[in-house]
Amino acid sequence: MSSFIERYHELTKYDPMTIDRLGQANWAEQPRAWKSIAGSEHVDIRPHLEFLSNFVEEDGSGEYPPLPDRMDLASLARLSWFAAGVSAMGGSPQDPHLYRTNPSAGGLYPVELYWIVLDVEGLEPGIWQFHAPGFALIPVWRGDFRAEASTALFGSQPASEASAIAVLTGLFSRGAWRYGERAYRRILLDAGHLAGNLLEASRREGLDAVPMSGFCDMGLSDLLFPDEDEVPLLAVPIGKPLTKTVSRCLRSPTPDPTEAAAHVEPGKLQVHAHRLARIPPGRPGIPDFIARPTRKPELSYKKPLESASPGNIVRAAIERRSCRSYGWTPVSLEQFSTLMSWSRIPPEETLSPAGLLDTWIVANAIHGVEPGIWHWDPETNAIALHREGAFREESLKMCLGQELGGNASFLVVHSVPLELAVDLMGERAYRPLCMDAGHFGERLNLAAQAMGLGASGIGGYFDDQVNRTLGQDLSHAILYVSTVGEPG
Ligand SMILES: Cc1cc2nc3c(=O)[nH]c(=O)nc-3n(C[C@H](O)[C@H](O)[C@H](O)COP(=O)(O)O)c2cc1C
Repeated sequence: MSSFIERYHELTKYDPMTIDRLGQANWAEQPRAWKSIAGSEHVDIRPHLEFLSNFVEEDGSGEYPPLPDRMDLASLARLSWFAAGVSAMGGSPQDPHLYRTNPSAGGLYPVELYWIVLDVEGLEPGIWQFHAPGFALIPVWRGDFRAEASTALFGSQPASEASAIAVLTGLFSRGAWRYGERAYRRILLDAGHLAGNLLEASRREGLDAVPMSGFCDMGLSDLLFPDEDEVPLLAVPIGKPLTKTVSRCLRSPTPDPTEAAAHVEPGKLQVHAHRLARIPPGRPGIPDFIARPTRKPELSYKKPLESASPGNIVRAAIERRSCRSYGWTPVSLEQFSTLMSWSRIPPEETLSPAGLLDTWIVANAIHGVEPGIWHWDPETNAIALHREGAFREESLKMCLGQELGGNASFLVVHSVPLELAVDLMGERAYRPLCMDAGHFGERLNLAAQAMGLGASGIGGYFDDQVNRTLGQDLSHAILYVSTVGEPG
């Protein structure tokens, strides 16, 4: 195991023998899921969201507002809300829980959304923070930051053409409070979910959006905030038209061996793993990715999936909730095909090199698909049988005994040969791969919601058991499990 990120992944595996030692979270110390804002200056986005009620009332087929020629405040307000806005309230009046358009492991919402506003009609240039619970955009710094943003993104074309750049940040403390060192994994998945919403909403706005996980970390941090606990994870230049043929991830330089081998204080493993993957100022050089066959050579992809529209995605985005329990009704082959086809990340939005992320299906109850483990090829949108058999028991056990795992009609598992990924992208490999897995998960959530099915992410699983169920070597890193089924 040569890299620190492989070590991080190994050390944060859940294992049936040791999971009890992790202890319980102290609920009295749960951090708030949003930042407190100094001052009262803000832009209220609610006037730009009135159209939403037409989608959920009556037959749910509202009209989307007409799109402007140039990105404007209304458009940016809609993008912010669809990405991470508050969409429902739960809990009690004394202790409310604000649900968002993006799902989040444990409902902790450790990902924040900022905007580097460059040329947006109706909104002053500068850095703005989206404050979800206040339905507000809060000014952080005023001014023209195009030059700084372009430097932080190594002069890439989309940054210089964009009207605004969304920046997603992660706050370690918000996740670590509950998930300890494994929080980073879920933070990256959460960022992928949020990015999935943002990219889908940008398409609806008629805007180009180019997600980029390769940037100068210090450059973006300096632009947004000085706090060590909060780190930039993804930049998304948005505008029209944007050059899309750019590298969406970059290789991080090999860390200094002493730094990589340094003793890391307990509780600081994930911060260290993130820091070792930083890209310093000055262009690091675009990696020459070695192409890897998308298809697994030993498998034959003989079941092509048909794509069809899942239905009203705007309404799904407004109403989306993670499913809390599944009945045992199987999904049909048509439903399964539509779900997988629509969830495929558009190739120009995939952060990691094509073919690196493996997508597995644990088919428990799909009409027309033999129960077993299937591998999905995104290029041909076809599946190949890898292991035949009934895996409900294993699905339940590997998901820490969570019934969502055992009762789902099918599970989607994302895994990666991490050593190979590190060879290609350095320590940074983990970021684009986890965010891609989260992005796929969000598309699956939206499609399922639109089709009246249920979906939920599962961040808690016994890593090695998942590999054993898949029939894979334990060296593969399991990045995410998503579950789908008929709600029940
Ligand atoms: C990365 C990720 C991991 C999750 N892991 C689990 C899990 O292990 N078990 C579970 O019941 N729900 C899980 N969820 C669902 C969250 O609990 C849910 O998103 C959150 O409570 C907010 O509710 P909502 O999705 O309905 O808005 C996960 C969600 C995400 C995005």
